[in-house]
Formats: sequence, C-alpha cells, structure tokens
Amino acid sequence: MTEPEAIPLARPELGEREEELVAEVLRSGRLSLGPMLERFEGEFAEWLGVDDAVAVSSGTAALHLGVRGLDWSEGDEVITSPFSFVASANCLLYEDVKPVFCDIDPITLNLDPGAAEAAVGEATVGVLPVDILGYPAAIPALAELAEARGLALLEDACEALGAADAGGERLGTRGIASAFAFYPNKQMTTGEGGMLVPADGAMASLARSERNQGRAPDMALVDHARLGFNYRLPDVAAAIGVAQLERLDGLLSERARVAAAYGERLAELGGPAGEGDPDGLVLPCADRGHERRSWFVYTVRLPKAADRDAVLGDLANRGVEAKAYMPSIHLMPHYRERFGYRVGQFPVAEDVSARLLSLPFFPSMTEDQVERVFKALDESLTGAWV
Ligand SMILES: Cc1ncc(COP(=O)(O)O)c(C=O)c1O
Repeated sequence: MTEPEAIPLARPELGEREEELVAEVLRSGRLSLGPMLERFEGEFAEWLGVDDAVAVSSGTAALHLGVRGLDWSEGDEVITSPFSFVASANCLLYEDVKPVFCDIDPITLNLDPGAAEAAVGEATVGVLPVDILGYPAAIPALAELAEARGLALLEDACEALGAADAGGERLGTRGIASAFAFYPNKQMTTGEGGMLVPADGAMASLARSERNQGRAPDMALVDHARLGFNYRLPDVAAAIGVAQLERLDGLLSERARVAAAYGERLAELGGPAGEGDPDGLVLPCADRGHERRSWFVYTVRLPKAADRDAVLGDLANRGVEAKAYMPSIHLMPHYRERFGYRVGQFPVAEDVSARLLSLPFFPSMTEDQVERVFKALDESLTGAWV
C-alpha cells in the first residue's frame, strides 16, 4: 500500500480567476502603482466596510507605517502582547519605540486589558493589541483605556481578517489604525502583502507617500518630500488579492467548517479553553458574546506533561505537518539583551508558548484529513509523556 500524501500545515486556494487577473496585469504592462493596485485597495475597503485602505508589501510594512502615522518615536513606550508573531513588536523597534509587554488572557490568548492598564506609565503613548490566532482582542475595553489615558491604538489584525469584536464591529472598522497581512497561510493571500486601514485621511496620505520613498501621493513631484521606504505592493500581487476578495466569504466559511470538524473530533481528547479538562488537550476558545473568531490556524495546547517535540516528531512521521506556535517575543535574544526581559515575567504567555502546537489547517481540508490528524495526534500523545 502506498503511503498517503502528507497533510500540509497550510495551503492557499488559488484558481483560474487569480490566473486571469494576473494575466490581465501582465498584458497591461502596468506592474507597479497601476490600476490593479487601486482596484484592490477599493475592493478591500468595500469588503471590510471602511472608506479607505492602503496596500503595502507586507503586514509588517503596514504595521510600520501605522507606527509612523501615529508619530510614535524614540523615548515612547507602547503596551503590547508578548504572545504574538515577532513583527508586532519589531515594528516598534524600527522607530526606537519601547515595547512594554504585559501578560495575556489564558482563554483568548490576547492582551489582558487589566494587565495593560497596570502597565501604563509616564512614557506610554499607545497600545498595540494583536488579534492572535484570529480571535479578536478586547478592543472595546482597550479603546476605553486609550480614551481615558490619552493613548493611541494600533491594531495588529494580521491574523484576523473578518473577525468581529465584543461590540459586534468587524475588526478594522472602528477608526482604529489596523494592519492586515496576506502571506499564503492567511485568510486571503497576495503571496506577500499587507494592508493598512488608516485612522484618518492624513494617515492614509502619509502612508501612500511613505510606501513610495516619500514621494507625493499624486506622483506630480519627482522630489521626495519626506523619508520613505519601498513598501509598494506589486500589481501582480494586487491582482491575486482582487481574485481572493471575490471568494473571501467562501474561504472564511470553509475555514470555519474545518475548525468545527476539528472541534468535534478532538472533543474526545479535551475541550475548548475555559471549559477543557486541564489534563487533556485545550482547544481554541469558543466565541463569546458578539466576539467572532476568523479562523486563521487551528491550535491545540498540549497537556503540561506531554513532550511537544516528541509529538511534533511523531506527527511528522505520520505524515502530519504541525508546528510549535509560537515563542513569546520577550524571550527572544535581542529583546532580552536590549530590554532585559527574562523568563517568568509573563507566565501565561510563557506557558502557552511552551505547549501550543498548530495543526494542518486550510479551506479545502477534507473530513478524512481531519480524521487522519485526529488519529495521528491521539496516537502521538499516547507515547509522549515526560
Ligand atoms: C500577528 C502578526 N503580525 C504581523 C504579521 C506580519 O505580516 P507579514 O508576514 O505579512 O509581514 C503576521 C504575519 O505573519 C502576524 O501573524
């Protein structure tokens, strides 16, 4: 019998429409700052329900231009989550802003608003919440804190396109500067790419200038009015984005379908965060109130006594791609060296970082594949106690 094909961690859904629009750009000869870029920005803004959106070369670039648009700079401190992809803190370092980490909520894995409030100090200028693993951060509570303490917000919604917050608002639509990302494992992809939803028109025109080496947005001047970067999104990438937007609602519901299938199958081994058996697997938390997750990855927290590396190795041998997801940023070497962060400061984040693993997850995943992952995980766990 031949071995079944390995199940990948992620897989983008690309088809004829993406090919058609990419071909349209290639034939047009307008490969950068062309009409497809504008079309992508317009259609993205329309899908989300906002007035404007600025496409850039990555989610990281969107975050960086957000930091600059808010005028956060050297000497400033911004409160953020240690349990995130490193880009959400790196974007602060690019402008010599100090990331002040505080611990996360053990259920949602997002910045704990109480911890954020306690961390506000003299030099605090803002809060950078991350909607981790597609689950909305406590945006209304953080917006209230920001209002009360005169802080600005920059939301890292890179993993959460389509999610809604506790007030029922879709992320990115509250007038808070928000970054989205389109790497191939995301809800929609452009290959590489990102989008800044600006807080206002001034931030939008600054970002359009800064993504293009500081040139005036209308390109009338050859002069470079200010310092800028090359954060342009190529039109070929924008074409993929337009095609992905056309099917985004379907992609999101397929992701939700796969997550539901996992939830059902894995219930035998544990339960959702907040309800799960602490001796078993902790599954992603269920939506609470108006909060709606947009499914990005499917992660499980292993029991404390399980050896994650052994589980990962065993899953790989069984043709299931899985990944440890993800280390706490404050313990990365350059953060420790530069800011003196150390083990034990954010126990919830550190515990989650040590135990979480991400399973194969993509919209076209079949029930059979979910079943194979379940069996592999069940068997791997049996032999993985330390
Ligand atoms: C939480 C978070 N922030 C920022 C980013 C950065 O996006 P990109 O990889 O497009 O630069 C990502 C994407 O991987 C992310 O998951």
